[in-house]
Amino acid sequence: MTHKSVAIITAAVLLLVISSAMAETAVVDTIMNVGTAQVFTDEAVSADDLNTIMRAGLAAASAINQQPWFFVAITNQELMDEIAGSGMGFAPPAGLTGKPDGGPGEGRPAPPMMTGGAKAGLGDSPAAIIIYRNDRSKSPNADFDCGLAAQNMVIAAASLGYGVKIVSSPVMMLNGGKHDALCEKMAVDPAMQAVAVLLIGRVDNAVDAGTAATTRETLETKTNFIE
Ligand SMILES: Cc1cc2nc3c(=O)[nH]c(=O)nc-3n(C[C@H](O)[C@H](O)[C@H](O)COP(=O)(O)O)c2cc1C
Repeated sequence: MTHKSVAIITAAVLLLVISSAMAETAVVDTIMNVGTAQVFTDEAVSADDLNTIMRAGLAAASAINQQPWFFVAITNQELMDEIAGSGMGFAPPAGLTGKPDGGPGEGRPAPPMMTGGAKAGLGDSPAAIIIYRNDRSKSPNADFDCGLAAQNMVIAAASLGYGVKIVSSPVMMLNGGKHDALCEKMAVDPAMQAVAVLLIGRVDNAVDAGTAATTRETLETKTNFIE
């Protein structure tokens, strides 16, 4: 082997090590900075991207591998508005959503603000994914399993450049009196119970929703390290 080929191979290996270290840091950075999106643009989320996000959800671990979930991606604004119409949503005040008609929040008094800023509800993002829990599954911890799938989808969406908001308020409508009719619309078994909904879209940076971000506690207050 010539000196030249040894140098090329060494450079290639070095490049590989550096790029894989950078990729690892990128994942941690995504997790640390993921936040909760509160204002979305109207830009559509492609079916390809929604499928990639749902595949990330399917990759989650589950107790005794029961995979006790079912995901429904929705881009149909009418359907999203129908579900949000329960009056349980936290729709942002009209004008902050980027939606021309103000969406389901229009005409209603402004919702309570937790820490200020706009608050997106179902109907305020171009796409949503409903996470259903399958009550026919034998998982001893199905809600936890669904939570793992949810977080996988949040991270996948963030790595594709989308903002995501997890909301549980639409669950009251999805699992309420209209449950069976809505299951039929979603083409899911009525044994499914909604656990949460992910609002997905490009973040509208023209609106300052930064004030809505809440702080996190520290390693000192929330963890122990026993050596
Ligand atoms: C399981 C779950 C349910 C949530 N449900 C709602 C909801 O119904 N409405 C809402 O405005 N935010 C909801 N959130 C968003 C939380 O309020 C938000 O993630 C938290 O305050 C942290 O906000 P930050 O990421 O902006 O700091 C929910 C979050 C989770 C994880």
